[in-house]
Amino acid sequence: MEEELKELVKQAESDILACASYNDLLNIKAKYLGKKSVLNSLYAKMRDIPSEERPAFGNLINATRKNIEDLLEKQNKAIKEDAWKKSENRTAIDLTMPGIFSSRGGLHPLTIIRREIDEVFLGLGFEIAEGPDIDDDFHNFDALNTPPDHPSRNLADTFYLEGGGLLRTHTSTVQVRVMEKYPPPIKIISPGCCYRNDKPDPSHSPVFHQVEALVVDKGISLSDMKDMLSQFASIMFGKNVSSRIRPHFFPFTEPSAEMDISCVVCGGTGCRVCKYSGWIEMGGAGMVDPNVFDILGIDSEIYTGYAFGLGIERIAMLKYNIPDLRILYENDLRMLRQFKGELR
Ligand code: DAH
Repeated sequence: MEEELKELVKQAESDILACASYNDLLNIKAKYLGKKSVLNSLYAKMRDIPSEERPAFGNLINATRKNIEDLLEKQNKAIKEDAWKKSENRTAIDLTMPGIFSSRGGLHPLTIIRREIDEVFLGLGFEIAEGPDIDDDFHNFDALNTPPDHPSRNLADTFYLEGGGLLRTHTSTVQVRVMEKYPPPIKIISPGCCYRNDKPDPSHSPVFHQVEALVVDKGISLSDMKDMLSQFASIMFGKNVSSRIRPHFFPFTEPSAEMDISCVVCGGTGCRVCKYSGWIEMGGAGMVDPNVFDILGIDSEIYTGYAFGLGIERIAMLKYNIPDLRILYENDLRMLRQFKGELR
């Protein structure tokens, strides 16, 4: 018996020395010391052994077990040391090497301006509402009183998606979503992306941004709208900047208007930026058409409201003196770095 066990230890030793990883060792450990191992089966045989021989037999098995455990432990240490040595050679650390500098980013000028606009309107008592960029005919056109044959519905203007959706062509969709969901009084702005099938040029981009405003309550009038627009203009561009509205047409407002501000570059005397008119167009505005209220279940006998939509790019271009809208989308680092300081 003793001889057999010695032979077992020898065999285990050669297996253990052949192990190159901790995992290998675990397999070998299971083979020699595990439940199904030869050694383990000997414990069961104890019963058949005369009682006076049992202690010696037990000691023998235990000693064998201990031998194998020691061998496993020794090899485990050797494997670890070997790995340590190898990694030492590979990654000797040079503490004098200069660090890798990761530069800090900045906000995009459009983001800076959008946040500024948010702050101005929050200060004037508005809340911020959001709507999806992918919307549908109802929210983009039908609910805004836009007839089926209106040119803006054209494929040449609107990006339609497979399955019937579309990319919203204006943030006016959010007016609809808010009025669907909440009863008046309403006083929201909604900044966001819009999409139109336009060829990029200095003043057009297929993706651009608007900020929409909607105020609905009892007794809201056109003069409230005019006042709000002029407050916005003077907070955003300075006290000396004035605003005006001109008659226009939008299907969802009656009356409708376009809003201008006095030229921020020449102060209204005429220059290249304002095309010598003294005024710069900022967006559309008007009193919410009663038809829109009717479609959305708001009583147009009781409530009136105004809405407007301003171009965020236009505001950024004026604020930062950017001559071509496309500059905002090219991500040229020489342009973006100029705004790095303006982290908020
Ligand atoms: N949605 C219009 C556009 O994109 C702009 C606009 C006009 C918004 C009048 C309004 C509004 O809220 O009342 O051209």
